[in-house]
Amino acid sequence: MKAPVRVTVTGAAGQIGYALLFRIASGAMLGDDQPVILHLLDITPAMDALEGVRMELDDCAFPLLAGIVCTDDPNVGFKDADYALLVGARPRGPGMERKDLLEANAAIFSVQGKAINDHASRDIRVLVVGNPANTNALITQRNAPDIDPRNFTAMMRLDHNRAKTQIAQKLDAPVTAVSTMTVWGNHSATQYPDLHHSTVNGKVAVDAVEQQWYEDEFIPTVQQRGAAIIKARGASSAASAANAAIDHMRDWALGTPEGDWVSMGVYSDGSYGIAEGLIYSFPCRCSGGDWSIVQGLEINDFSRGRMQATEQELTEERDAVADLLP
Ligand code: NAD
Ligand code: LMR
Repeated sequence: MKAPVRVTVTGAAGQIGYALLFRIASGAMLGDDQPVILHLLDITPAMDALEGVRMELDDCAFPLLAGIVCTDDPNVGFKDADYALLVGARPRGPGMERKDLLEANAAIFSVQGKAINDHASRDIRVLVVGNPANTNALITQRNAPDIDPRNFTAMMRLDHNRAKTQIAQKLDAPVTAVSTMTVWGNHSATQYPDLHHSTVNGKVAVDAVEQQWYEDEFIPTVQQRGAAIIKARGASSAASAANAAIDHMRDWALGTPEGDWVSMGVYSDGSYGIAEGLIYSFPCRCSGGDWSIVQGLEINDFSRGRMQATEQELTEERDAVADLLP
């Protein structure tokens, strides 16, 4: 058995937290030979509810759960953390865009970035889930200057998984037949789910559907899926978001399957002409605990326009929080 690693989850008393923690403790995220010590961070008024979550975790008698720390202090929450899932933030309601949350949520991530910088493992791997996820990841990263910017990522895996299911259902194929999906850009309504490089049963996906369905059905359905769930459920996605967070961290830590790749919001190195330093979603392969952007994909004018539109939105979000970016 390996030595335990410390996994911090913020917003641990919230609805995504409830769908996430039990799976992390069961080994679904880091493998069934990796014990974990959970650091559960939430705000002071949520401490009673968090204590209830701790009791339920205890009651599962998970063999891999080597300890639980519950706290409302970020300095304790991130102490020696090897992995962090930053979920704690306000969700949007009906009629809002995710960037409308910037004002409410951005400050959380500057505080947590500083706490990570001061207390976490130098190799910490951070996934930001709280919205607007890409810009919150940027704020966190910029407030943790002593840690490699490549260690800060934003969750695009829910969009990636949504895109896989939409094309699979359209072609009456199992999701396992879909490979090399790519969702570019921001976790927002400007994201660009791209079917030009994805295959279904070995056939290029964009060639297997009508252009009109691609433009008028597929792209908007994936872009608007979060809003559709809020409308239907009266609350934002939780179990599917938790599942995507597990998928993202597992692939980052343990590697992407041979021949496939995933969409991750990562620190842009200028690949595909995207401004350096933005947290932008690219197709990524992971191996040995590291990610790399898939290079050399051919980008046509249709795709280029959409990739630039979502980049533009990220630039505007970055400028709107300039005071939180040291
Ligand atoms: P929720 O309201 O159920 O839970 C949020 C939790 O965060 C609460 O327990 C709250 O007390 C806590 N919190 C607030 N401020 C905090 C702070 N400073 N430190 C620690 N904890 C804090 O919300 P939820 O449904 O779990 O969603 C959480 C976030 O995830 C929202 O911003 C939502 O929009 C986002 N989200 C992102 C994706 C994605 O794909 N990136 C998907 C779904 C939801
Ligand atoms: C989602 O995509 O389901 C989440 O980001 C929640 C939201 O606000 O849409």
